[in-house]
Amino acid sequence: MKTYKIALIKGDGIGPEIIDEAVKVLDFLSSCFDFNFEYKEALMGGCAYEATGDPLPQETIDISLESDAVLFGAIGGFKWDNLPREKRPESGLLRFRKELGVYANLRPAIVYDELVNASSLKPSIVQGVDLMVVRELIGGIYFGEPKGRDENRGWNTMVYTRDEIVRIAHHAFKIAMTRTKKVCSIDKANVLDVSQLWRDVVTEVAKEYPEIELSHMYVDNAAMQLIRDPKQFDVMLTGNIFGDILSDEASMLSGSIGLLPSASVGAKIGVYEPIHGSAPDIAGQGIANPIATISSASMMLRYAFGENAAADKIDNAIKLVLKEGYRTKDLAQFDAKVVCSTSEMGTIIANYVAK
Ligand SMILES: NC(=O)c1ccc[n+]([C@@H]2O[C@H](COP(=O)([O-])OP(=O)(O)OC[C@H]3O[C@@H](n4cnc5c(N)ncnc54)[C@H](O)[C@@H]3O)[C@@H](O)[C@H]2O)c1
Repeated sequence: MKTYKIALIKGDGIGPEIIDEAVKVLDFLSSCFDFNFEYKEALMGGCAYEATGDPLPQETIDISLESDAVLFGAIGGFKWDNLPREKRPESGLLRFRKELGVYANLRPAIVYDELVNASSLKPSIVQGVDLMVVRELIGGIYFGEPKGRDENRGWNTMVYTRDEIVRIAHHAFKIAMTRTKKVCSIDKANVLDVSQLWRDVVTEVAKEYPEIELSHMYVDNAAMQLIRDPKQFDVMLTGNIFGDILSDEASMLSGSIGLLPSASVGAKIGVYEPIHGSAPDIAGQGIANPIATISSASMMLRYAFGENAAADKIDNAIKLVLKEGYRTKDLAQFDAKVVCSTSEMGTIIANYVAK
């Protein structure tokens, strides 16, 4: 029997509640397959700062690097908002991604048929949306030097090297080959030099993938098109800051931020996490939606371990549970037959997975 070693970083706010449900589902799942999981917990974010004075203790990096994958909840909260920047939970997360070298952030946005009324857009616009934002995660303006501020000026630098663009472009094209073979690369090449290089390099890399249909779009237009006609997109390839904004926009097509998973990959160890934050406003109430995290566990099975049949089982269980009308509070007004707590939702999905 195979054993997969998973580093569990629960984090702050609703993080522990939602990770516990993903673990529940994974453990039920292992009873149907020839593998099991060994978990090791590590601290990050506000809880790590409280315990050690550092939002990202070295031990967390070590435990993660010794594992086969990292399952991550969320970090942050009002309590730590006034700390100096390097002590804040968010700095720990940025440093963590950089330390692991996870340069590709995959964010699927899927509209479940059962929740088509939960979107703020008309059902005819969102029904059938199934797209994937491939976002460069450890370069661009969030990391570029020089950066800083004085009393009267603040500055950041948006920089991409050819190598950084080549590797993320390959990633996007390979994913597109497993989907509908369409890639739209998003940039701001009409204004930014860095985007002109981005566009040239993506076009060059595309020559190695003759089956792929590549298009380019300016980011302002892409933001508009995502609302106007999201079904025109399959894989959206983009840099760090544009991807950050567009993927949050895409997430709202589905109706709740509590539904959407992500994978940060490209290095030896990948990080699998919901796209939402630690939701301090609802932490501890047992009402958080665990589906984004359970779905992130499915991405982990697929992308880290190649256990596609097991991942399919989780994805199908989520669809069935939604179809039967089970909803957490965030989706309670959309055709709910049963409104359940975080833990009840985890148990119901686990039961469907084990069927
Ligand atoms: N990857 C991460 O860990 C990450 C990402 C984004 C924000 N954050 C941090 O999280 C904290 C809160 O940030 P925010 O409020 O801007 O974003 P958020 O995603 O935590 O919450 C936004 C809204 O969505 C709701 N929500 C989020 N997840 C939900 C779920 N699973 N089920 C039901 N409702 C859910 C919240 O209750 C809130 O109303 C901040 O400290 C921020 O820095 C962390």
